[in-house]
Amino acid sequence: MASEDLMMKVAAFVGSARRQHTYRAVERFLANLRARGDVETETVFLSDYRLEICKGCTLCTGKGEELCPLQDDRDLLLQKFFGADGVVFASPNYSFNVSGLMKVFLDRLAFALHRPRGFGKAFTSITVEAIYRGKEIARYFDFIGMGLRFNVVKGRVVKSLEPMTDEVRQRNEKTIDRLSREFYATLASRKLPTPSLFELFMFRWGRTSMRLMLDEGWRDYCYYRDQGWFTSDYFYPTRLGPVKKAFAWSVDSWFSRRIPRQPGHDALKGK
Ligand SMILES: Cc1cc2nc3c(=O)[nH]c(=O)nc-3n(C[C@H](O)[C@H](O)[C@H](O)COP(=O)(O)O)c2cc1C
Repeated sequence: MASEDLMMKVAAFVGSARRQHTYRAVERFLANLRARGDVETETVFLSDYRLEICKGCTLCTGKGEELCPLQDDRDLLLQKFFGADGVVFASPNYSFNVSGLMKVFLDRLAFALHRPRGFGKAFTSITVEAIYRGKEIARYFDFIGMGLRFNVVKGRVVKSLEPMTDEVRQRNEKTIDRLSREFYATLASRKLPTPSLFELFMFRWGRTSMRLMLDEGWRDYCYYRDQGWFTSDYFYPTRLGPVKKAFAWSVDSWFSRRIPRQPGHDALKGK
């Protein structure tokens, strides 16, 4: 067993209100990780927390997450989310999408898509379904993990239709076991990968838009400024070769000339 400060923390957020198939898939996944000896895990049942539906005021994204007017358990969940070295989102397929519980949680996390902080941490998802369309949900989770800037291990889908044949049960177990091996490797590597051209483009475009269209009245602007992201190569120190450097520079300069400067935004400022 690794000493306490070497232990990696993994939090799994479960979007089913019952402890059945989604829970069992998550338990197997987490047990596999614990068996490695240097991982401690927590299963967070979203249904055990008071989490209200987002009212759409946009205060969290625009002005700061601490200004959310809803008084509930969001901050407890955020502590678990941001305090983990690895995160798992697990949801049943409900009407061809994530469960309502999970979607409420994702909406309350939307501010972190603006101001990402998953760098070097691992992310994956488990979708559980009776019949069909879970792959779309897994792709959606992958996109969320990427937006939060985690190192994403592509999510997997397992089946729950009863009565379950031995073949399906074994296939599910194999899927979860393989996922936990891949997740552990990503978790333990803690790597900060060199950005792809697409990631570089998104970063440079986003930060140039913020620099020109926002000002100190906006949390995104302050966050980017305080992190040094207006002048850095990327979100974190990385080595860009000459081609990527030239590409990144041209994205900056192209958008700098085209995005209209909009200081003020008086209508929303100081809200
Ligand atoms: C409201 C509701 C909607 C569902 N919609 C779908 C669906 O669109 N596609 C599907 O394959 N399964 C669907 N299912 C089946 C669940 O995904 C399946 O029963 C799953 O195992 C539920 O997870 P749980 O066992 O952790 O509660 C639905 C179940 C419920 C309760």
